[in-house]
Amino acid sequence: MANINQNQDREQWGSKIGFILAAAGSAVGLGNLWKFPYMAGKNGGGAFVLVYFIILFLVGFTLMLAEIVLGRHTQLNAIGAYRKIRKNWAWVGGLGVLAGFLILSFYSVVGGWVINYIVKSLTGALNVSDAEVLGGMFGELISGTTVPIFYHGLFMLATLLIVFGGIGGGIEKSSKIMMPALFIMIIILAIRSMTLPGAVEGIKYLLVPDFSKITIGVILDALGQVFFSLSLGMGCMITYGSYLSKDTNIPQSATIIPLIDTGVALLAGLAVLPAVFAFGFEPSAGPGLIFITFPAVFAQMPLGSLFAVMFFVLVLFAALSSSISLLEVCVAYVVDEWKMNRKVTTIVLGVVIFLIGIPCSLSLGPWSDITLLPGKGFFDTFDFVSSNILLPLGGLLLCIFVGWIWGTDNAIKEATNDGNLEFKLSGAWAFLVKYVGPVAILLVFIRSLL
Ligand code: PHE
Ligand code: NA
Repeated sequence: MANINQNQDREQWGSKIGFILAAAGSAVGLGNLWKFPYMAGKNGGGAFVLVYFIILFLVGFTLMLAEIVLGRHTQLNAIGAYRKIRKNWAWVGGLGVLAGFLILSFYSVVGGWVINYIVKSLTGALNVSDAEVLGGMFGELISGTTVPIFYHGLFMLATLLIVFGGIGGGIEKSSKIMMPALFIMIIILAIRSMTLPGAVEGIKYLLVPDFSKITIGVILDALGQVFFSLSLGMGCMITYGSYLSKDTNIPQSATIIPLIDTGVALLAGLAVLPAVFAFGFEPSAGPGLIFITFPAVFAQMPLGSLFAVMFFVLVLFAALSSSISLLEVCVAYVVDEWKMNRKVTTIVLGVVIFLIGIPCSLSLGPWSDITLLPGKGFFDTFDFVSSNILLPLGGLLLCIFVGWIWGTDNAIKEATNDGNLEFKLSGAWAFLVKYVGPVAILLVFIRSLL
């Protein structure tokens, strides 16, 4: 069980691998399994993947290290970490907590769909290979009223129960079970999908870039997707880093976590897109992609229903190991700064986020006429504002903060455990944080505003 937070005895990860699995658990989630394939599909496949990789190398690794280092140095939540170093920067952490709120509210709605699909696959309802029927089934679920809200509530409840257990007993323990299982399953699925007749088209679509497809819209989506997928720009890795002991090798962890995340995103793309082509779906089909194509693939396989259950259980694991990190960002803030009881805080925040998620769910059905941004209802607005605006903005401010306010020398001192560790690329890293990161993010922002 959790240590006492009340007396400032901050909890820590039980082991190095425990931290890596928890942080990779935060990173690997619906962003990889659900969002990446359909974002790639929507944005021209290979073109998107190429831009994604460029951004990953320029800012992904850089910011992962910056966040973890800031967290461990201050041993505080996102807001507290900024405040401890420079008082008037606390609001930047606040933006992150806000983003966490917004993301979790729609994330949990999708998590609810996943639970519903576990039930569907258990009852055999998914044992259909007809795309139309599967598409109709998905549409009926997400546009409903009580059913999707009920499952959204279940997902929030599961999230809350894990966060309740604290860092070691809840988050770390669950990640150690869920992550390895997920990895094995996604490899099996990718192999199955790539060996379907006609799969080559899908693999080509994902890996061969068509440069004419690269527009500023594609770049902004890829930027947002890097942040979303790596759980960056909102203080999640600051918070997880704050539970690290002083002897952890941060440069190493900050390399492994993005590698795992990217590996799983690519595998998910290789599992989904070949199947999309093999079954004659549109790759630009959008958020329904995994809910429609996977069941169609499974229905044609021996032991398909068993695979379907396993697949959706694993999507649920991935989603939960991310949703707990989103909730933890908010909980850590309230517990640290307001000295509130951890359990009470978890329940209150869980309920509030559940309530904010309700309009997200309704906006895909009965409330589809209500738009907050042009053409975007609650769900799409929350997603767009958090992924494409708040996270990159948080990343931009983080670069400026670590690069220019706190200073890369201080950050490197922390990253190398006061000079006791080797960090070969520290010079390159400092350059990326101070110049490349801020300029790249600013350029994308300015270009997409124009
Ligand atoms: N990285 C998670 C995913 O890919 C989502 C997430 C974003 C989690 C931001 C925490 C913070 O699904
Ligand atoms: Na991810």
